[in-house]
Amino acid sequence: MTMSLAASGLVKSFGARTVLEGIDLRVEPGEIFAIVGPSGAGKTTLLRCVDFLLRPEAGTILYDDAVAPSDLAARIALRRRVGMVAQNPFLFRGTAAYNVSFGLCIRDVEGEELTRRTADALQGVGMAHLAGARASVLSAGEAQRVAFARAAVVRPDLLLLDEFTVNLDPSNVNILEAAVREYNRSTGATVVLVTHNMFQAKRLAGRVALLLEGRIVEVGPVEEFFENPRDPRTRAFVRGEFAY
Ligand SMILES: Nc1ncnc2c1ncn2[C@@H]1O[C@H](COP(=O)(O)OP(=O)(O)OP(=O)(O)O)[C@@H](O)[C@H]1O
Ligand SMILES: [Mg+2]
Repeated sequence: MTMSLAASGLVKSFGARTVLEGIDLRVEPGEIFAIVGPSGAGKTTLLRCVDFLLRPEAGTILYDDAVAPSDLAARIALRRRVGMVAQNPFLFRGTAAYNVSFGLCIRDVEGEELTRRTADALQGVGMAHLAGARASVLSAGEAQRVAFARAAVVRPDLLLLDEFTVNLDPSNVNILEAAVREYNRSTGATVVLVTHNMFQAKRLAGRVALLLEGRIVEVGPVEEFFENPRDPRTRAFVRGEFAY
């Protein structure tokens, strides 16, 4: 399953400070879409609005071309179709396997299927050997891999990834990037990826957007975005010349 995502005129403030100044964006079903931009630009804030964790002051977010329903059961059903790996993932107390199986349990998956899907998800991120390890003893990179497995195992139609490889060494970056590609290929799910790593955006995304000071400056196909950007601010940013 898959999902389109659209934001229009999205505004989010914290106190007197407006962080998102009117975001307009459309992500097509099944895309891997990257959002890049300097630290503090509002990337995490945008993902948190999409993931129902923050309520924007103005504008709309459309999931499959519809606003989130107000009816509680329908809203929960929609929320369950959206998964997120946070920038600093918070794991539940308990083992790595417990973390990964939790979302399946609340969806009434049990028995052999529960065991198999949990094991497969951990295997997919190179964490099978640490299935029984307590979350509190995992390294930052191990925790990040468990967080990815925990999000992907329930097969969200829209997967939001916020700097999902930031603590990883190159070989584990490869494992997780392959897991994203495989997830997107096998489920057709839409993936929105926030990254500081321009190489990662090039490797994974079909289209890329630059978020700057709370606004989307440019959206384009990946080659065009990096090789021949239209906006001078994009050119400066991708060349690493942006002063921030
Ligand atoms: N809950 C909050 N309360 C007050 N200010 C906040 C809150 N969350 C974010 N901000 C501010 O909003 C701005 C954007 O933050 P956000 O985390 O979205 O940036 P970002 O683009 O994800 O940056 P980074 O690349 O460093 O992760 C920052 O200046 C931050 O201090
Ligand atoms: Mg962030």
